[in-house]
Parts: sequence; C-alpha cells; structure tokens
Amino acid sequence: MGLCRRFCCSRGPLLVLFLASAVPLGVIFSLERTKNTSETFEYRSRGWIRECAKWDADRHRFLVSTFFDGGVAQIPLPGGAAAPPDTTLEEQSALHDPAVAGNASVGILVDAPRRRLLVVYSDLLRHRYSALAAYDLSSWRRLFLAQLSGPNDEPSDADDATLDGEGNAYVTDAKTNKLWKIGAGGELLGEIRSSVGLNGIVYHPNGYLLVVHTFGAQLFRVDPSTAGVEVVQVTGGSLLLGDGLELLSPTRLVVAGTPSGRFVESGDDWRTAAIAEIYRGPMHRIASSVTVKDGKVFLSHLIGGGLSARTHLITEAVFSPVKGKQP
Ligand SMILES: *[C@@H]1O[C@H](CO)[C@@H](O)[C@H](O)[C@H]1NC(C)=O
Ligand SMILES: *[C@@H]1O[C@H](CO)[C@@H](O)[C@H](O)[C@H]1NC(C)=O
Repeated sequence: MGLCRRFCCSRGPLLVLFLASAVPLGVIFSLERTKNTSETFEYRSRGWIRECAKWDADRHRFLVSTFFDGGVAQIPLPGGAAAPPDTTLEEQSALHDPAVAGNASVGILVDAPRRRLLVVYSDLLRHRYSALAAYDLSSWRRLFLAQLSGPNDEPSDADDATLDGEGNAYVTDAKTNKLWKIGAGGELLGEIRSSVGLNGIVYHPNGYLLVVHTFGAQLFRVDPSTAGVEVVQVTGGSLLLGDGLELLSPTRLVVAGTPSGRFVESGDDWRTAAIAEIYRGPMHRIASSVTVKDGKVFLSHLIGGGLSARTHLITEAVFSPVKGKQP
C-alpha cells in the first residue's frame, strides 16, 4: 500500500494511469501470458485502482477496498467449494459509509472471530483525516468509527491495519512515523512513535509487530509495549518496494510488492530472516496486498487493465526458490 502512497497520492493519480498506459498493449498481453499461477481470479470493476483485497472465508468472497471511491466491494465466488470458473467475476458494491465521505478506503482486514471488517480511511490529498472503522460482515452495520487524526492534528496518512489476539488494532501512519493502537471497542489507546516510516503491518503471536517501509527496503520488529524498533537482518535479497504483509505461520511471512511476492522465513523469532522464495506475477499491475485462501497465498494488484471494462486480478502466488540461495 506504500506504493500507492507515493504514486497515487503524493504525485497524483494521473501518474498511475500514465504508468499503466505507458506499457504497450502487446507487452501487457505477453506479461499476462507468462504469469505463472495455478489459480487466478479476474473480476470486472468500475475503478482503475483496487488497493487491498482480503479473503472472507465464511462468506466465500473476496473483499476489496475501492480506494478513491472510499468504499468496500465484494467479489462473491460462485459454486461453494467448486473449482473457480473461467468466466470473469463481477465486483459488487458492498459498503459506502457517508460518515467518512470524501476519504479513501485503504487497508482492510477481516476479523473473522468477531465477524467484522476493519477499514482504514485516509484523506489522501490533504492528510487532514485518518480513521479506523469496524463493520459487521453480514449486515454492514457500523460497529465503531475511531478518528485517529483530524484537521487540527499533524498531517497524517493512515495506511494499513493488523490485529492482536485481544482484538486491539494497530494502524500505520505513512506520513509521520507512528502507529496508532485502537482497542477492540474502537477506543484510541495511544500512539507508538517510531523512528521510521511504516506501511504494511502484521501482528506476530509472540507479541510484536512486523512492519515494512516500502521505500526503505527494510523489515522492522516493533515492540508495541516499549515502542522499541529493531531492524530485522534480512539476507537473500532486498525488501525494497515491499507493501502488504501476511504471516503464514510464526516463522513464515509473505511480502507483496515488486517483485509480486517474496516469501521470507525466520528461525530466530524475527531477529534475522532470509528471503527464501520469490514469485514474479504480472508486475506492471503492481501487487499491493496479500491474503490467504484455502491455505494458498493470493496477491491482489493495484492497477486494473482492459480497454472498455476494467478488470482486476487476484492471483495465486507460485513461489520459486531464490537462485543462488545460501544453504
Ligand atoms: C511455474 O511454476 C512451476 C512451479 O513452481 C515451475 O515448475 C515452472 O517451471 C514455472 N514455469 C514458468 C514458465 O516459470
Ligand atoms: C473525511 O471524513 C471526515 C469525517 O467525516 C470529514 O470531516 C472530512 O472532510 C473527510 N475528508 C475529505 C477529504 O472529504
């Protein structure tokens, strides 16, 4: 989601359209043909940019944040447990909260145990509003709206969220180096100042946060109780342009970005880590978030394609070992 911070927001949405349209059509087709995935969900949408997609297993659908549009859409998958169809899926509007009209919807998170969706909102252009809201996943009733920052506070740019075991949420601010902590009922519990800018975030069950900064190439281990920040020593490649994160197990992390997916492993509680495998998907579409469906890793892409109708891709990441990896 950090890429979008730079390309969509700071430098204007036109740059993204320029980047997308600067790739000749023939190249797009060949790029898409070489995508090495065993499962791809293609859906038709009304927007060019879909920042974050998460799998809602209980309702058998993907949920996506519609970004500038400020809402959340759903892509229901037909056929229960049946194999995905070849046909293009349709995005349906699911949520549009008038209380935050004019703001963008950025990171989203399915809180399955509490049957709710968390949505991060941000005033992308002026940085005068950031919020976290929670909605019932069946009725879309709003459960809380926590303002994190307003016009009288320092400029902010809320980006991504994660949850700990008690339902506390942590939201990154890509503008001023900090994290917000929000209680399970929506109460703002405080800010954790860090010395670094933060984008993608994930909570580790051992009580700390793993966070990436898209343009900093580094992975950080943040202790929320002390605000202590350690740099995880990563070998086997760079995490530059890392964005959305998902923890597959306590020792395995997937980083979405460019290249599309990096599979990172740690054997010492994330003091050090190694990039073990890489997945190169449709790079020109820019992978921005990662989610897990039926035990498989899926990446969603920021930029839509197509001429008359815009289509977006959610692709299964098929990882290959990093060449020349040290044993
Ligand atoms: C696709 O991925 C599979 C499994 O990792 C690998 O065996 C195959 O060589 C890859 N094909 C291409 C064209 O990269
Ligand atoms: C974001 O939402 C807040 C709260 O309703 C509102 O005051 C603000 O004007 C909105 N921002 C934009 C850019 O419309």
